Amino acid sequence: MSAAWDPGQYGRFADERERPFHDLLNAVPPADVRRAVDLGCGTGNLTRLLAERWPKAQVLGLDNSPEMLEKSRENALPGRLKFERGEIAEWAPFAPYDLIVSNAALHWVPDHPTLITGLARRVGPGGIVAVQMPGNHPAPSHREIITLALTPRWEPWLGDLARGPIHVRDLAEYIAWLRPLGFQVSAWETTYLQQLRGPNAVLEWIKGTFLRPYFARLDDVAREEFESEAAIRLAAAYPSEADVTLFPFRRLFFVAQRG
Ligand SMILES: C[S@@+](CC[C@H](N)C(=O)[O-])C[C@H]1O[C@@H](n2cnc3c(N)ncnc32)[C@H](O)[C@@H]1O
Repeated sequence: MSAAWDPGQYGRFADERERPFHDLLNAVPPADVRRAVDLGCGTGNLTRLLAERWPKAQVLGLDNSPEMLEKSRENALPGRLKFERGEIAEWAPFAPYDLIVSNAALHWVPDHPTLITGLARRVGPGGIVAVQMPGNHPAPSHREIITLALTPRWEPWLGDLARGPIHVRDLAEYIAWLRPLGFQVSAWETTYLQQLRGPNAVLEWIKGTFLRPYFARLDDVAREEFESEAAIRLAAAYPSEADVTLFPFRRLFFVAQRG
């Protein structure tokens, strides 16, 4: 099994996953946007909202997952909205952009000081960088998986993943990188108290995202075993009542505009 994104699994909690994008977009000030990009655009369902909000803009969605991009095709608008395969860290447009958006994607990309200052240089005067990233790494949804992966049974296969770095940094650091480059930065964090429905809801949530690299290391039999052990830990950490599981989820936001 590969670490491929599965748009179906990812889309199972579409309402909860989309809400932060709307909150991010609502915080973007009025601007004359002619060129916009959505980095880590996924299926492009949300990228399309950029094209709707800025009807004069040419919008690009960039993603490195063929599975996600396959779905994005139905969102393309000839001459207005297109999708391309590419690595976020390697994105190097020839001309400045007015708006760079990234929703729930940059936490997969290492070296944020270089990444963020590099993106900042891609917008012209008045240009905006708007980012939302999950900040749920201290939560039991992640800690339980890491603890399990570091047990003797799993450590030989999963230990390096479990010990891997967290790329997301404190919001104060993003402000500190961007202000010297002439940006005004608005930054905030929110914990959404999500109410997920269905059995093993937190497990199903992280199967669409955080667990993918873990599963990719295991064959089918081992994956099932790891999944059952994860399910027991997560059910204890997040008990459900009347089919509803409360899953607090912290997210970090910043909207930075070049002066
Ligand atoms: C959690 S999904 C979010 C998709 C979309 N932005 C949304 O909010 O629905 C993360 C996306 O980032 C993409 N991604 C992760 N790392 C990437 C990288 N290094 N370069 C390009 N895309 C990346 C994944 O393929 C995936 O589609």
